[in-house]
Formats: sequence, C-alpha cells, structure tokens
Amino acid sequence: MRGQSIGWPRQADAPRESEAIGGRLVGCATSKPRKDEAVPASAKVEGTTVSAPTPGAPESARVRSMFDAIAPRYDLLNHLLSMNLDHGWRRKAARAALSFGTVERVLDLCCGTGDLAIELARQSPAARVFGGDFSLAMLARATRKAQRIPFSAADALHLPYRDAAFDAVTMAFGLRNLADRALGLRELARVLRPGGRAVILEFVPPGRGLVGAAFRFYLHHVLPRIGRAISGDVSAYTYLPQSMEKFPPPDALRAEFEVAGFEHTTATRMGLNGVVLVCAQRRP
Ligand SMILES: C[S@@+](CC[C@H](N)C(=O)[O-])C[C@H]1O[C@@H](n2cnc3c(N)ncnc32)[C@H](O)[C@@H]1O
Repeated sequence: MRGQSIGWPRQADAPRESEAIGGRLVGCATSKPRKDEAVPASAKVEGTTVSAPTPGAPESARVRSMFDAIAPRYDLLNHLLSMNLDHGWRRKAARAALSFGTVERVLDLCCGTGDLAIELARQSPAARVFGGDFSLAMLARATRKAQRIPFSAADALHLPYRDAAFDAVTMAFGLRNLADRALGLRELARVLRPGGRAVILEFVPPGRGLVGAAFRFYLHHVLPRIGRAISGDVSAYTYLPQSMEKFPPPDALRAEFEVAGFEHTTATRMGLNGVVLVCAQRRP
C-alpha cells in the first residue's frame, strides 16, 4: 500500500500509515469538516472558530485545477525558472526541519511532485516521511519518483491527520496558494506535537533597490513567457508573480505564525531576497 494510495483517504480503505498517524479523516473534496468532526483544538485555543478567505487569495478549486494542468511540466519549469537554485532551498529547509530534537515523523504538506519529501527522506533515512497535497496529478508524479514515501491526498485547510501526529511539518511554496492562510497555519499547528517544528519556504515580494527591481522585471516579464511557452498554460505563470506580490513580507508573516499557535518564529530571506525560510515552533 505504501506510496501507491494517492486518492482521497476514506476511513475504510485508508493506508495503514494514515491510520497509524490519523484516524481523523475528513472529506477533503468538499473542503468542509464532517459534521461529527470536532473543531480543531488549536482553533479553540486561539479563541477563533470562524475563518474567512484571505483577501486576494485564490479559490482552492482554481488552484487545484491549475496544478493538475501544469503537473507534467512542473519539475522542468521549477528548475529552469529558479536556475536550479530550488534544490539548495529545499536542502536548507529539510536540514532546518530535521536538525531540531528527535524527528521520527515528518509531513511534507503541499508536497507537489515530492522533491522536498524526497530530500527529507535522503537526509534522514530513519525518519518516516509522509507527503500530502490536494492535486492528484502532482501526487501521481511524486509517487512515480519515490515509491517508498506514502503520498496521499490532503487538503491543507482540513488535514486528515490527528492532533499532534508529527514532529515536524514542512511546506515549500504552498502557503501562498491557500485560500485561507490563517486556517492553514492553525491546521499546521494542530497536527504538530507541542514543541514540534514547522518549516516553510515561500516566495515573498522582492525587496527594494536595484536587485529588487531586476528581480521584479524577471518575474513579471521573463518568467511568464518561459512558463507559457513550456507549460502551454497561459495563466499559471502570471499567477506566480501576482500571488508573490500579494504575499505578506517576512515580518508580517512571522506575526501570522505567532497568532496561529507558534513561537520562536524566524523568517530569513534568501534567493535574491525573493524567497523566505520560516522556522517556527508549536507552542506547548
Ligand atoms: C508551487 S507547488 C509546490 C510543490 C512542492 N512543494 C515544491 O516545492 O515544488 C504548490 C503545491 O501546493 C498544492 N496546494 C495548494 N493549495 C493546497 C491545499 N489547500 N491543500 C493541499 N495542497 C495544496 C498544489 O496542489 C501544489 O502541488
């Protein structure tokens, strides 16, 4: 069963790995918790059970179909458009997630085609690495690349895992796409054990100055043309710079993590200041 079950998990046929860590399986396709599901504990702790879409964020259904459409060319474009810098960013993120106490179970959420999950498994062969994403086309590619890692369907806004199931959770370039970022961060906190670590990689608005201006030119004028030529998708690679510009800068992002139930949050810019690495610890 390992590495082959990529459909939406159901209580009856959930892979053993999911049962071991989960049991709180919810209907991902509707993006709504089942009526008999308890409201996530972290939401209650934060005193906010009501959630609303993040202003300017795309709808989940649109994001999912966009990634389903570009899945066949995703890896090629990822490496090309980042000039292969993305490997180094994921290596750093994996190191940050694993170099923090005992990490036996780690979830790579919004795992896409699996590169960060694969890097986590490479750096820590003893850890049990899981991958989750809501695009089945992306998951199919991940499964083909790493049969031994259990990749399964998971909506980041309603995760099919029990509370405190993981020692670490990573997410590379997924947070920007969530329709409700506050809810996504609370879900991350919920599935982490107290003291567990979240490590996020994300594109952020480029800084000011000459480097920032050059980066903006590349983002808005060069990247969409290459993306369109190779993927054949007209909107996906204009969506990337647009969503980047709307994403909060590192300081504001850090504050959002603290509100969601994290502490000791750091946000470090890298990659010509257009990428941020956030590390945060789940509050006990
Ligand atoms: C830019 S890709 C990043 C993939 C991979 N982490 C990487 O580093 O290449 C964003 C991924 O997030 C996934 N995603 C976006 N919103 C999601 C959600 N609400 N739940 C689960 N996955 C989501 C998309 O399907 C896509 O695979």
